[in-house]
Amino acid sequence: MRHLLAMTDLKPGEIERIFSITVDLKTKFEQGVREALLPGRVMAMLFEKKSLRTRVSFEAAMVHLGGSAMFLGAEAGFGSRESLEDFARVLSEYVDVIVVRAYRHDTVVKMANVASCSVINGLTDYAHPCQAMADLFTLRELVGRLEGHTLAFVGDGNNVARSLAVGCGKMGMRFVMATPEGYRFDGKFLARLAREVPKLELVVTGDPAEAVQGAVAVYTDVWTSMGQEAESEQRRRDFAGYQVNAALMAKAPRGAFFMHCLPAHRGEEVTDEVIDGPQSVVVRQAANRMHVQKGILAWLLGAQA
Ligand code: CP
Ligand code: NVA
Repeated sequence: MRHLLAMTDLKPGEIERIFSITVDLKTKFEQGVREALLPGRVMAMLFEKKSLRTRVSFEAAMVHLGGSAMFLGAEAGFGSRESLEDFARVLSEYVDVIVVRAYRHDTVVKMANVASCSVINGLTDYAHPCQAMADLFTLRELVGRLEGHTLAFVGDGNNVARSLAVGCGKMGMRFVMATPEGYRFDGKFLARLAREVPKLELVVTGDPAEAVQGAVAVYTDVWTSMGQEAESEQRRRDFAGYQVNAALMAKAPRGAFFMHCLPAHRGEEVTDEVIDGPQSVVVRQAANRMHVQKGILAWLLGAQA
């Protein structure tokens, strides 16, 4: 039984396979064809946190593939009525795949350990693999081969940054982070990177201007992630010099893309000028969430593309 809990679950060849299914499905979709690769398959969706992109793109993806998506709200009792394990054991008897957005990464791990169907992480405090997959796919559409390119990440060493770092390592890209001390990857994650993606070239700096030099794209995410709202004042102070604005983009190579997983806190990590500007590919990233998740679902559920 395969799950997608973190980017470390995928080998480079598997990422390529998912991308090739995605290219095929996206091309057909753009031609008006919604290929029903997963007829009769059922996906359950559980969200402990808010979501626009992940929730809607997964649901639309499954419907386009000929399957059905079931969003389970609070009345299902997830996390409140019975043990997580009992919940996952029973739910996985009814459905073919479960997408979970949880506060704690441990929640998706525990579910995957006992589920009789695939579990997909739709974001935890630790990782956001579906986002990283869509982002790498977007870059691949924009620049072709990813190998040798540098992705600059300016901001918090959070779930999105971790998944991107692993993804970059798997695809032969450099990952350069500009992050204040106290918000960088911890020793445990650095050890995991060294073990799982030994070829990753990771550079960590406190200087955003240094980070964006030579980058094919400049990526940022919110300074305060969901669940960290109590820290937002402190974080605004700590990240004050890390805004992606026109002055910072001017230090990146001409033609560098601006990327953001969204939702954005405009005026904090990014200015309107940059996110709405010609270098921004944020809507394309969001659109690709749906296409790449079709690839992930088709691959995980073993459909022939
Ligand atoms: N990028 C992303 O996961 O967006 P949502 O929180 O809206 O799902
Ligand atoms: N780092 C953000 C990503 C949202 C898609 C969060 O966890 O809130």
